[in-house]
Amino acid sequence: MDTENIKIQIKTFFGLEQVLAEEIKKLGGRNVEVKNRAVNCEGDLGFLYKINYSARTALKILVPVFEFKAFNQHQFYDKLFKMEWEQFMDVDQSFAIDSTVNSETFKHSQFVTLKMKDAIVDYFQEKFKRRPNVEPKNPDIKFHLHIDRELVTISLDSSGDPLFKRGYRKEQGEAPINEVLASGMLQLAGWDGKGNFLDPMCGSGTLLIEAAMIALDLPAQIFRRRFAFQNWNNYDADLFTKIKEFRVNRVREFHGKIIGYDIDGKMLNAASVNIEAAEMEDIIEVKRQNFFESKKELFPLLMVFNPPYDERISINDDDFYKKIGDTFKTHYPNTLAWLISSDLEAVKKIGLRPSRKIKLFNGKLETRFLQYEMYEGTKKVHKLENQ
Ligand SMILES: C[S@@+](CC[C@H](N)C(=O)[O-])C[C@H]1O[C@@H](n2cnc3c(N)ncnc32)[C@H](O)[C@@H]1O
Repeated sequence: MDTENIKIQIKTFFGLEQVLAEEIKKLGGRNVEVKNRAVNCEGDLGFLYKINYSARTALKILVPVFEFKAFNQHQFYDKLFKMEWEQFMDVDQSFAIDSTVNSETFKHSQFVTLKMKDAIVDYFQEKFKRRPNVEPKNPDIKFHLHIDRELVTISLDSSGDPLFKRGYRKEQGEAPINEVLASGMLQLAGWDGKGNFLDPMCGSGTLLIEAAMIALDLPAQIFRRRFAFQNWNNYDADLFTKIKEFRVNRVREFHGKIIGYDIDGKMLNAASVNIEAAEMEDIIEVKRQNFFESKKELFPLLMVFNPPYDERISINDDDFYKKIGDTFKTHYPNTLAWLISSDLEAVKKIGLRPSRKIKLFNGKLETRFLQYEMYEGTKKVHKLENQ
């Protein structure tokens, strides 16, 4: 692998591509291109380490290594069998393959994954008279197979475990939001660590912790122990140490407040456990509070939250979303609030016109991420404090 000019593909969730592209540009990516659920760019080996360590909206970071066309399974196997696999792995290392297949020729992703596994194992067997182990859970080397019609792309997965696994989530709560999605929502909402932040329905605290990480400019993977690139034969441990040190030196102080409310004591316990695991007890405060009985206490204020929606947590209150709107209107003047919901009928009951609507997916659920601007009096005379 040419370690100076590496072509890189970074996967993300639908709707977060622009946010990710901005992150990658700030981290020094070259030729940044926005794709569907991905961003492509170029950089050197150090840059690959840096984005694995820092990018908040990256799910996994791939390095394409082979590309070819195959029109049937024999061609597919033969071309794979001819690759020099020892460039990327040692026979003593274990490997795994994950795949995305979008092809009329290759309909079953499991079947092609198995064929690729056979080609790698047969290759080593023939050349070195030994076979590497397949290890689906904790492989040393992880390959990604992508087939788009006849075009086959084999990549090395430089991350290993997906990057939403930040390492601070010890308790799940009932419907925790994915960490990458949470960070993307915060960045879409313009949270930059200036001012104060409230998640009025914080559950297990994901948005709070991600908000604190942004506020302190902590690298997204500060708690992570292992990346797949550390098993590569070109791994440069000194370079990675330098990159981590340089990045950690950028961590800044935060002078605002980050607060979470939840009505459910069990959820608050889960949030506290996670906040402690993230070593953020001094920065994040959570308290048992019914949002509908609360009023604005922080000035200026940005709110971002994911209220319960029917598919994941049943709401036994038909007026739940109406109460959100009433609370916004009566108790949160001059506030910018964002919420994510898949219940597009229910959000109408909020009774305020969202000033922005962004399509996102929470798992398989199609959702809207909605911005509400609460002014006191008319728009003409009052400016939002936190803009
Ligand atoms: C979808 S969960 C939030 C999940 C959270 N973002 C996470 O990552 O774990 C919604 C939360 O809203 C809380 N909730 C429901 N009604 C509430 C109310 N009136 N006031 C405050 N919290 C409420 C629930 O207890 C639940 O924890």
